[in-house]
Amino acid sequence: MTRSNAPAYMSGFGNHFATEAVPGALPEGRNSPQRHPLGLYAEQLSGTAFTAPRSENRRSWLYRLRPSAQHPAYRPFPQGRVRSGPFHEAPPSPNRMRWDPLPMPDQPTDWVEGLVTYGGAGDPEALSGTGIHLYAANRSMTDRVFYCADGELLIVPQAGQQAFVTEMGRIDARPGEIVVIPRGVRFRVECGGPIRGYVCENYGAAFRLPDLGPIGSNGLANPRDFQTPVAAFEDIDRPTECVQKYGGRLWSTTFAHSPLDVVGWHGNLVPYKYDTARFNTIGTVSFDHPDPSIFTVLTSPSDTPGTANCDFVIFPPRWMVAEDTFRPPWFHRNVMSEFMGLVKGAYDAKQGGFVPGGASLHNAMSAHGPDRASHDRAVAAKLEPQYLGDTLAFMFESRYVFEPTAAALSSPALDRGYDAAWEGFHKATLTQPAPKGG
Ligand SMILES: [Fe+2]
Repeated sequence: MTRSNAPAYMSGFGNHFATEAVPGALPEGRNSPQRHPLGLYAEQLSGTAFTAPRSENRRSWLYRLRPSAQHPAYRPFPQGRVRSGPFHEAPPSPNRMRWDPLPMPDQPTDWVEGLVTYGGAGDPEALSGTGIHLYAANRSMTDRVFYCADGELLIVPQAGQQAFVTEMGRIDARPGEIVVIPRGVRFRVECGGPIRGYVCENYGAAFRLPDLGPIGSNGLANPRDFQTPVAAFEDIDRPTECVQKYGGRLWSTTFAHSPLDVVGWHGNLVPYKYDTARFNTIGTVSFDHPDPSIFTVLTSPSDTPGTANCDFVIFPPRWMVAEDTFRPPWFHRNVMSEFMGLVKGAYDAKQGGFVPGGASLHNAMSAHGPDRASHDRAVAAKLEPQYLGDTLAFMFESRYVFEPTAAALSSPALDRGYDAAWEGFHKATLTQPAPKGG
């Protein structure tokens, strides 16, 4: 019997939620009564150390048909194209890289089978860094669930309607929305046809909303627009394979039943989704555009204030109104490293070559910015209010240099002529007398 109905959601970021699919699933007034009123098994799932400060502490209590512990030993599972930090398959590269979209599979492929790692940084065992994966799949996971013990997963669907059926409820997502699944939470991905997307596997501190500073108490991603599913469970007595990523490796075991059997839960360690169309985009109303940190949706902080383990940044539809301003992203060399993807439309720093489903990597201190065609058009443009409507680019930005995997470097989708994007710029002509010193 399946009790997954059309998903319903609870509103808010970082809330302590309480939800039950059957009345009485949540014990009242305590977490672990001697005898649960419905005979369910109580289980705490912690996402931070017990002693983490209250403001950082994340944990949920799950009430389930059977204990999670009831399973045989895990065994190694074929690694496929999934890789993990520490990477070291290739040296960190100063070269700018760009990839065409991952092709849709021509064989039946589920989400786990369709994962391919492009790179990352750090080490899950050091609780720092990220893995960056792309996926392309064309069938639902059947009698199989997955979880990541190495990090939280921030998933960016790019093509196709996708459902993330988790232990804690069902999340439906389409391109334009993002989904975050905590470390350890099991889920299955369902689809009705080809799907594609990007995954940031966050080995570090959990994503949270960035501080707003002088922006004030509203703006960017507003807390109430984050949606966490209500409890929904499966009562299925059929063998279900459980694949996990643990210490960089894939492992699997087989439960005698669906492990998505949580009848009720409460807590603040939760899966959630967010519609990027709700992002309150802020930009200049005078001149120059602010640093792209103004587009940060979520941040995973590091031990150094303001220097993220990973920021998730979007470039959504927005008005450009700046006067006397070069409006595309400027040329830059940043201490942070940038892995970009494009969900839809075009990105305003490139006239071609960066297409929906594609990706680019601009590592620390690697010079990049608009290509020549974008530059020439921008300096000649009449500066009227302009709406950039058909676009949604995003960035995983990190203090760590991303190391590409061997698969990414040898991929036929790698654009081996990317450097040409910055060819052909004319030398500046010094037509004005140089200002006098002193
Ligand atoms: Fe950049």
